[in-house]
Amino acid sequence: MKLNIAVLPGDGIGPEIMPQAIHVLDAIAKKFGHEFVYHEAICGAHAIDVCGDPFPDDTFKTCMDADAVLFAAVGDPRFDNDPTLKVRPETGLLAMRKKLGLFANVRPVATFDCLLHMSPLKESIIKGADFMVIRELTGGMYFGEKYQDNDRAYDTDVYSRPEIERILKVAFETAQRRNHHLTVVDKANVLASSRLWRQIAKEMEPQYPDVQTDYMFIDNCSMRVLTDPRFFDVIVTENTFGDILTDETSAITGSMGLQPSASLGDHTPLFEPVHGSWPQAAGKNLANPLAQILSAAMMLEHFGLKAEGALIREACNESLLQNIRTPEIQVEGGNHYGTTEVGQWITNYVASH
Ligand code: IPM
Ligand code: MN
Repeated sequence: MKLNIAVLPGDGIGPEIMPQAIHVLDAIAKKFGHEFVYHEAICGAHAIDVCGDPFPDDTFKTCMDADAVLFAAVGDPRFDNDPTLKVRPETGLLAMRKKLGLFANVRPVATFDCLLHMSPLKESIIKGADFMVIRELTGGMYFGEKYQDNDRAYDTDVYSRPEIERILKVAFETAQRRNHHLTVVDKANVLASSRLWRQIAKEMEPQYPDVQTDYMFIDNCSMRVLTDPRFFDVIVTENTFGDILTDETSAITGSMGLQPSASLGDHTPLFEPVHGSWPQAAGKNLANPLAQILSAAMMLEHFGLKAEGALIREACNESLLQNIRTPEIQVEGGNHYGTTEVGQWITNYVASH
């Protein structure tokens, strides 16, 4: 298979973890006879420095022309403490999601057996947890009307019926492919937008008789993912709730550096780690490349390349088992491996298995 891949390393640790994913993809291409062509483009703070725009038109075009986008992270502390700034790296990310129509953000939460003890949660609670959070990504407060003056500010949490229907369709269908259990997460006891979500979900339920659907308030769900994560199979929720919930659920695995995600919608699908740009670690060869590498695996699986995805997952798993780990998950007394060493190890594993 030939795939044109737009490669957006972005900021912070992005330019360090991205090459590791590319090495792994090259090893996969060689082994399975595929052709992966990379088209690198700028975004985030880096792009603001180069041309004043965190998601320039050239980058948009590169993404639109590609079969998939592999994205790392954006964000830079230089832009964090001045509330008057209109252009920030994050506005580029939001523009990218909007312009590519990426309304469905799929964030799997799975545990690695050998890392269970690293989680701040009890092993007995998280063992076997395996669920998927589907976060709506182009609506809600992120994109609703905003206003700000010195004395008053607001953000509007707005959703239309078609926006809700299309994300719920993705969620119901994902549940059909998994364990047939969908939890619709909202705040319908308080918010009008949530009540519309719930109404539409209840209307759609009969079309999916093989899916057991339940409803949970976001506050309750935030507790339940930590006290009883095995309860969940597929969670669907709106943009802001999904943002917060997926940082929380990443704690289940013990490191944010292990979580890949996919964003799907109208145009080119995008694959990216859940974690951010971790500017404090930039240039130090410290960052865990696994989330980026696993995002590449999700990308291949999206195109039906199952064996290829499985081999990457096996390689990642094996690296963890053999303690080839970056510092944040290394066991006491174990050697610390850097970003490049972990990437190299996984690449070699893929090439030789
Ligand atoms: C995420 C991030 C972004 C978001 C930020 C960087 C704008 O936190 O992808 O979860 O809030 O969506
Ligand atoms: Mn987030």
